[in-house]
Amino acid sequence: MPDYLKYKDSRLFWLGQDMLEKSKKYNSSVIFFSKKRFFDNLQNAFSLGKKIQVHYAWKAHYRNDLIDILNKMSAGVEIMSGKEFLDVTSAGMLPENIIFNGVGRDIKALHLAIKSGVKAIVVDNITELDKISKECMALQKNTRVFFRFYPFWNNHFRPTSFIKFEYKLGIQNKEELNEMLKIVYSNRFLELSGLSFHFAVRNSDGFLHKAGFDNITYFYRNLRNDFKTLKYISIGGGLDSRYLIERKGFSIRSLLGSIAEKADIMDELEELIIEPGRFLINDCFIGISTINSVKVLNSFNWYIIDLSTNFLVPRANSYFEVFPIIKKETSRKEAKFGDGICSSSSIIGNSLFLPEMEIGDKVCILNCGAYTQNLASSFGFELPEIIEI
Ligand SMILES: Cc1ncc(COP(=O)(O)O)c(C=O)c1O
Repeated sequence: MPDYLKYKDSRLFWLGQDMLEKSKKYNSSVIFFSKKRFFDNLQNAFSLGKKIQVHYAWKAHYRNDLIDILNKMSAGVEIMSGKEFLDVTSAGMLPENIIFNGVGRDIKALHLAIKSGVKAIVVDNITELDKISKECMALQKNTRVFFRFYPFWNNHFRPTSFIKFEYKLGIQNKEELNEMLKIVYSNRFLELSGLSFHFAVRNSDGFLHKAGFDNITYFYRNLRNDFKTLKYISIGGGLDSRYLIERKGFSIRSLLGSIAEKADIMDELEELIIEPGRFLINDCFIGISTINSVKVLNSFNWYIIDLSTNFLVPRANSYFEVFPIIKKETSRKEAKFGDGICSSSSIIGNSLFLPEMEIGDKVCILNCGAYTQNLASSFGFELPEIIEI
């Protein structure tokens, strides 16, 4: 187990902190947050190279104090709606550091983005580009756009990824691209300044990002002759939690380093952008929960805990690891962790092989940062408090 999580004398330490000691004050479930870990993860992402710019995918976890850290590190955010725009700007993020992603945004959101001069509006369809074009004309305001691609539409290679061919996101044929280029040509306020893609999820080998980048480079080279303004490539988010990548013996450098070091194209680019959400935030949060009941079955035990799936939302690609805070010397048995909601989907951890535990024992749950608090609902149980440590 990496330094991130360690047992010392059978007690669990997270980022060097004794979880038993820390959790004593709390009678019910609680979530701990380490700001330092977010800072470290951000630094780690920047270590990819000189021209790397990091835009934290704000949707992964909303927390205003993250904006201070991002500003300190000269990082930006990637957002997807008018509401997110208002949230990040009122927390102190400058529009020039905002990449406004999305599909089918309303005119109010586009108006805000254009008027304030965001770094770029990412667009992947003709009708939305048409709206942007009319709005920047009406406001007489120069506006930078990135074209988002499904990067494999022009070849036979169709990797298995979370965004599939013919899904709603990304430019996917020549006709669509040509129509969009015509709109840019016809409006002096519109500037095509970047190309982007995002189609991976929980990637921890770098293959998909590399394949996507090689394809987007092809489009970049073709378009660059006509659009000298093209200066950015964004390879999106889609990396796994940092500690999980590192536990496999990899790093963000070993995953994406070969992209960041592509000398010829990097010389031409102003920035190579990454938009990590999960990688930056997931392992900055740890849940602490108590076992409320135990159901012993032949081949495994069910442990019902007091941290619920209303916070640890059991959506596709969520992955919550559970570790006992005290590692007992009891016999090991397969363990499943669920919550008190009467639903077949309210499972938190599955198929773990752990020392047997009893009512009142505490466990910690990893990966509580990404797509939890922002998707949480009040269904069934109270939401846990989040405490910075
Ligand atoms: C365009 C874009 N960038 C970045 C992200 C962040 O993804 P992740 O949290 O997997 O890094 C998303 C998530 O859906 C996205 O849609």
